[in-house]
Amino acid sequence: MRTYTEADDLQFKHCLSEMTNHPGIQRLKEIPQHKGGTTYAHCVNVACTAYDMAKKLQWDIDIEALVKGALLHDYYLYDTETMPYSDYRHSLVHPKLALANAEKLFELSGKERNIILSHMWPIPGAPLPLSKEAWLVSMADKVCAYREMHGRQQSASRP
Ligand SMILES: [Fe+2]
Ligand SMILES: [Fe+2]
Repeated sequence: MRTYTEADDLQFKHCLSEMTNHPGIQRLKEIPQHKGGTTYAHCVNVACTAYDMAKKLQWDIDIEALVKGALLHDYYLYDTETMPYSDYRHSLVHPKLALANAEKLFELSGKERNIILSHMWPIPGAPLPLSKEAWLVSMADKVCAYREMHGRQQSASRP
């Protein structure tokens, strides 16, 4: 249980801008995702939505791990429209590809690795989210994907 303060919001914004300013994350602006959006916008939406959920639930979380996991959960770096395999195969393999790509650029904790690998839970083969941060990113990913696919959240709602 945690009562969120302005200092927490500032920490969230600081972590988010540290990640979004990284050239490796800027690269996601070139990857299309969800009907005219980009993977960059999707990942920022997921980070903001997951943080809002944590505040509503008053869950005591590691803000930095949440932001890093959210920004890297879809770091697979290709356009799904031109990929050489099916949507089903993509849904199974992209978390592992995202982790492999992310680890080339970022130092990740075990918790951050699990956030990335488990975000597609409960599809078959996806590992269980093992932390509050992983549950939040997995839930926020589904909410944001639905909104983006249905035109209610085309771009990042916050910087
Ligand atoms: Fe994903
Ligand atoms: Fe996603």
